[in-house]
Amino acid sequence: MKPYIILNMAMSLDGRIARKGERVVFSNELDKARRDEIRKSVDGIMVGINTVLIDNPKLTISEKREENPARIVIDSHGKVPDGANVLDNKAKNIVVVSMDAQPYRIEELAKKTSVIVCGDDEVDMVKLMDELYKRGMKRILLEGGGHLNKSMIEANLIDEIYVAIAPVVIGDGVNLVEGTIDERKLTLAGIRQIGDMVVLKYLPKK
Ligand SMILES: NC(=O)c1ccc[n+]([C@@H]2O[C@H](COP(=O)([O-])OP(=O)(O)OC[C@H]3O[C@@H](n4cnc5c(N)ncnc54)[C@H](OP(=O)(O)O)[C@@H]3O)[C@@H](O)[C@H]2O)c1
Repeated sequence: MKPYIILNMAMSLDGRIARKGERVVFSNELDKARRDEIRKSVDGIMVGINTVLIDNPKLTISEKREENPARIVIDSHGKVPDGANVLDNKAKNIVVVSMDAQPYRIEELAKKTSVIVCGDDEVDMVKLMDELYKRGMKRILLEGGGHLNKSMIEANLIDEIYVAIAPVVIGDGVNLVEGTIDERKLTLAGIRQIGDMVVLKYLPKK
């Protein structure tokens, strides 16, 4: 069993979700509100470690709420900085490392957050989904970046995709999906204009 996975990303017209090593904000306020509605509906929000190191995202719901979804960081070697926003006390936090992480780092992290060890080199996303489901997570929002998106799409773990396209072109950068994968066909399930952005909804062809 696995949680229902929603991938939500904002990108430039030329398919970039950031410049290399740099955060770019593509979402307008309406898109942030749309994203928050998804955040409110999930048990956890998942990101890759590069996103944490570059963006230091809060991954909380903008409006003040008593409870935010858990934050799940995919981080083979436990590189998440101790002061990262995703480790603060605004939500439950889970750092997922692999067997490659140093035992001392796992111990350190375990003092301030839940730690799951899953996979040999990188995190095994299929096994992790099973583990998270067993821990009661039925619905998870995936918020990138490009490498994690690739692993999740490649393993056919995504159930719903939202891509918000901003009216900007930035040239080279981080792709929505980084690296090469076999073609995955999708079904267009919705088109919505929000201000100057267009939000596309896709479902995977099963
Ligand atoms: N526009 C948007 O909506 C949006 C949203 C989120 C992020 N971003 C942007 O995305 C960029 C980061 O993307 P990124 O592609 O460089 O990195 P990423 O996907 O955030 O993180 C990838 C890293 O996660 C770790 N990892 C562990 N197990 C993995 C697995 N099974 N599959 C994939 N990764 C695994 C690996 O690092 P280790 O081996 O070190 O563990 C890997 O290099 C940032 O610039 C950020 O601004 C944009």
